[in-house]
Amino acid sequence: MTHPQLEVLRRNIPGLRLEADPAELEHYGRDWTRRWTPAPLAIALPADVEQVQAVVRWAGANSVAIVPSGGRTGLSGGAVAANGELVLSLARMNRVLGFDPIDRTLTVQPGITLQAVHEAAAGHGLAYPVDFAARGSCSIGGNIATNAGGIRVLRHGNTREWIAGLKLVTGTGELLDLGRGLVKNSSGYDLRHLAIGSEGTLGVVVEATLKLADPPPPTQVMLLALPSFGVLMEVFAELRRRLRLEAFEFFTDRALHHVLAHGGQAPFSDVHPYYVVAEFAMRGEADEVAMLAAFEHCTERAWVADGVIAQGEAQAAQLWRLREGITESLARHAPYKNDVSVRVSAMPAFLAEAQALLGREYPEFDVVWFGHVGDGNLHINVLRPGGMDGAEFVGRCEQVTRLLAETLQRHGGSISAEHGIGLVKKPWLPSTRSEAEIEVMRGIRRVLDPRGIMNPGKLFDP
Ligand code: MLT
Ligand code: ZN
Repeated sequence: MTHPQLEVLRRNIPGLRLEADPAELEHYGRDWTRRWTPAPLAIALPADVEQVQAVVRWAGANSVAIVPSGGRTGLSGGAVAANGELVLSLARMNRVLGFDPIDRTLTVQPGITLQAVHEAAAGHGLAYPVDFAARGSCSIGGNIATNAGGIRVLRHGNTREWIAGLKLVTGTGELLDLGRGLVKNSSGYDLRHLAIGSEGTLGVVVEATLKLADPPPPTQVMLLALPSFGVLMEVFAELRRRLRLEAFEFFTDRALHHVLAHGGQAPFSDVHPYYVVAEFAMRGEADEVAMLAAFEHCTERAWVADGVIAQGEAQAAQLWRLREGITESLARHAPYKNDVSVRVSAMPAFLAEAQALLGREYPEFDVVWFGHVGDGNLHINVLRPGGMDGAEFVGRCEQVTRLLAETLQRHGGSISAEHGIGLVKKPWLPSTRSEAEIEVMRGIRRVLDPRGIMNPGKLFDP
């Protein structure tokens, strides 16, 4: 412990766990981006809200920067501690605090994993419908801080839609109780929504009251192979018109190539440019008939080059693995990730322009496209070619991101759809938000964190 006041902190807050051995610093100092060398001052693991407040007040008094930390599965460097910050990990605050059957809410501590939330909701015969592949490791506090999206946004919306209330410890150590689970509350600014997506720059989420939904209906899963993105959009519109879509996810042949290289069986004998995993609600025979008719309709028009409808849960899970396994299969290539959005209707034009530009300017890169069609959200992963040095790779990828940012501007899109801005996308925030908007954000940050100790350097500079 290098900071002389850390001993004071330890003495004054009985029960606060403070860690500073090198393995812990390494572990808690990085997130899934793996680009920065972890160098935190120490790790504070509070057990309750009062301890969080005490740590934040100590940090303010001693001018120590805090990095709020959940499951650190983020992909934008929002939870990286590489500059002597105190990591404030919510890992010990991971319990369900209450369930209300009338309100249909679950109140939880921020360190609970998304999967544990799913299980707790299911235990009460209900569902928490936000879902994505990192569910077993990511925490609800981190989901709130990034307004996490995922594979069911098309049906249920982002995390924001499911937060009935939250408690926030601001940069001054003040505890704000925001929303309080009220369905209607027309009493001025909804500060809860400022905290959601603020990436730890306004304070630390210390409790959340989550709305719950009806349990999911039985579903049917399909994998389709498609000749072009234009056709893919026709299929999307047609299926959405005829059926209740629960998810509609796409990936390219390169994505499938990497998933299969990681293990698994090719779904079709031929390779196709695009694939879709679609899931539909099946609430009776009529849905079954409608699904088969929709499948036939798409096949007759030669939109679908090949397709399979899952026969049972095991095959449905197998088809989903082709989509959900992409991130893991790419991880060993240390990909440079872009997570962009445009309006759904603008996707074909953006994708065509961006693919042509990247192919022309960066032919040496293996670029893997996948994402959430219903949300206009495209993941563009650039893989490091063998023999290219890491620093050169990042430098060239930043040029790729610049090119994407310019293209996005022409299509009215955003440089971050669901991963946040963090450190990785900070240089390109002005391509998505106007200078006036960023100035307003700076002002809000100054009010809630006047000493600038909450996750400094992330999102935008002071
Ligand atoms: C996904 O959709 O799989 C996630 O956003 C993760 C990723 O982009 O790698
Ligand atoms: Zn995603």
